[in-house]
Amino acid sequence: FPEQRFFLIRAHEGGFLAVHNRCPHLGCTVTWEPEKNHFLCPCHAAKFDFYGDFENPPVPRPLDTFKVTIEDRVVYVDTSTPEQRKHFEAEQLTYV
Ligand code: FES
Repeated sequence: FPEQRFFLIRAHEGGFLAVHNRCPHLGCTVTWEPEKNHFLCPCHAAKFDFYGDFENPPVPRPLDTFKVTIEDRVVYVDTSTPEQRKHFEAEQLTYV
């Protein structure tokens, strides 16, 4: 969802995770590279895995997340406040 500046991830086990598309290093827009199964920041070549966790310097942390709620099988993403995290953890996923 580039207009809203996030990617909505559906994990293999079925949970949802919304990650900000701004790199936590200096704020460049990251892109999804499906053939490599990772996000890439074009500015300094930082890579983030499927869950937005960082794979290499210079980034200090994973991609920030947005709160996800699901009501009546509809997924809502609150983009008002990005949340920082240290690493991906399964508890960050939201399930139907
Ligand atoms: Fe993304 Fe520097 S802004 S790696």
